[in-house]
Amino acid sequence: MVTQIKISRTKHSRISEIDFKNLQFGSQFSDHMFAMEYIDGQWQNHRIEPFGLIEVHPVSASLHYGQTIFEGMKAYRGVDGKIRLFRPDMNHKRLTDSCIRMCIPPVELETFLSAIEELVRVDHQWVPPYEGQALYVRPVLFADEGSLDVRPANRYRFLIITSPVRGYFGAGSPAVALKAEEKYTRAIQGGTGSAKVGGNYAATFLASCQGRDEGFAQILWLDGVEHRYIEEVGQMNICFVLDGKLVTPPLRGTILPGVTRDSVIQLTHDMGIECEERMIDINEVIDGIKNQTLQEAFGCGTAVVVNAVGSIGYRGQQYVIGNGEIGPLSQKLYKLILGIQRGEVEDTHNWTREVAIS
Ligand code: COI
Repeated sequence: MVTQIKISRTKHSRISEIDFKNLQFGSQFSDHMFAMEYIDGQWQNHRIEPFGLIEVHPVSASLHYGQTIFEGMKAYRGVDGKIRLFRPDMNHKRLTDSCIRMCIPPVELETFLSAIEELVRVDHQWVPPYEGQALYVRPVLFADEGSLDVRPANRYRFLIITSPVRGYFGAGSPAVALKAEEKYTRAIQGGTGSAKVGGNYAATFLASCQGRDEGFAQILWLDGVEHRYIEEVGQMNICFVLDGKLVTPPLRGTILPGVTRDSVIQLTHDMGIECEERMIDINEVIDGIKNQTLQEAFGCGTAVVVNAVGSIGYRGQQYVIGNGEIGPLSQKLYKLILGIQRGEVEDTHNWTREVAIS
């Protein structure tokens, strides 16, 4: 049974401050947010209220011990004006898995979907109109109980905020340069690498800042044992076109099970292209770039959609993939996924879910 969501609307909409032609990623937030609390063993007080600052217990386990997880998804304005979500059931599945991993009480699918849909309905004017843009939807769950005891908390908060965005690397983003990281590690087996845990991201900041100082857009993470096998990029999963096949690292607990990754695999398969989910040695990638059997590389994720990788830095050398520009498969997948999300291309897998605006 879906619990009633109480809606309190703002009297001062900020939408007139938004320049939809010049959106950034995640710096502006729409008028409302969803909130509820987990108290006495149940989620309660489901509500939509004006977006604003919140009070958090200064001794909450989320602040002190990192007991917090999040999700990332988008609402798209179609060419027909309709608003669609893309595979929200997969986000819910991953949120549930993250909850289990971090001992946070899960949220039922019906509650998750109705909270997102109601919030998008209330702020439907914030869903941007232009191609490559979307209303980014960020659910976050965190402990909020005052206790220094090192154990799962008894009280939690669940918020959903939304933000009108362009693509993560900008509209029509060029191919990005990645640095294969040999010193730091993002995740190891048995850790939290496959869950969307806040700390997974903070733990990558030092390496990414160092990479940025060296001119790289992002870090290409390698496995935590030998620093040899390709993992993911942090903000996106990674795919290669090697000898005409799509090759991507397997889900073995250390990388995020991306919704876009899964969609890319399915769509590539639909195109009749062979797809391998397997361990990929960084040396295989470097050799493939050198002898041109590696034709393309691209990242995929909700925030980036599909973004080409133009070069990889490894052990002080820069290896340019092909001509360093966006390859044909990256381009095709980007257009196809965006087309499905915007209702321009037939949704043969039934991935989209319309948010009806009355
Ligand atoms: C996403 O693609 O939704 C992400 O979570 C990436 C990032 C902005 C954290």
